[in-house]
Amino acid sequence: MDKQKWNPAQYAEEAHFVSELGAQVVDLLAPCAGERILDLGCGDGTLAKALHDAGCRVVGVDASPEMVAAAISTGVDARVVDGHELRFDAEFDAVFSNAALHWMTRPGLVLDGVYRALRPGGRFVGEFGGHGNVATILRALEEALAARGIDATPLNPWFFPRADEYHALLTRYGFEPVKVQVFSRPTPLPGDVTGWLETFAQRFINSLPKEARKAFVVEVVERCRPALCDGDGRWMADYVRLRFVATRPFGASAVVKPSVSSA
Ligand code: BEZ
Repeated sequence: MDKQKWNPAQYAEEAHFVSELGAQVVDLLAPCAGERILDLGCGDGTLAKALHDAGCRVVGVDASPEMVAAAISTGVDARVVDGHELRFDAEFDAVFSNAALHWMTRPGLVLDGVYRALRPGGRFVGEFGGHGNVATILRALEEALAARGIDATPLNPWFFPRADEYHALLTRYGFEPVKVQVFSRPTPLPGDVTGWLETFAQRFINSLPKEARKAFVVEVVERCRPALCDGDGRWMADYVRLRFVATRPFGASAVVKPSVSSA
């Protein structure tokens, strides 16, 4: 199965709004100069750089070597690490994550690594896709693939939990959730939804032979148009955000964590 590929130039063109909107998550983090911060899923490093410029000691991690190279070019310490395989030990005052956790489909492994990466009393602050995120786009992809005899279920690379589900997960992995909320945030796109699909929905598109992909994308765009494009031709993605703050308690966690091998 084709993996999602990340291209920093395409990302900057089609998805610059991701880090622009992520500024609100930085505000929620309320970073202080001198704090050690892990940016989990740092992408091209835009927000890691903002934290660095605010005087924090930042390490960015991302599974994409291309995005990590882009992050390093901005002057931040960034490393190629899969979020399911964090190996830090009580090194950070905070773990921060914007628009990345929905790509990590084994959240137990991620939470276990984040917990270990934080010092006792440290905080985990982030935002990602919540339940119902991009539902119109996902339905259009599923229906257009079904029309071609393909079941999209195993191609779906995203984890979009409900607030109560994520609250329970945080608790199970030893965190104290301070806030977990899901809210709708329709998000303007730079053009129509074509660029978004080509940037983020590669698993679905690449399940088809090369020569069939263009027509498929055109069809998905048309399936989305009635819900996502207004009378003036402006497109909005139907984003739903899950925003959270949680802490690693000072005392040893009394919670017995399930085996993470299957998480
Ligand atoms: C999001 O930020 O919600 C998102 C981005 C790309 C794919 C899926 C979701």
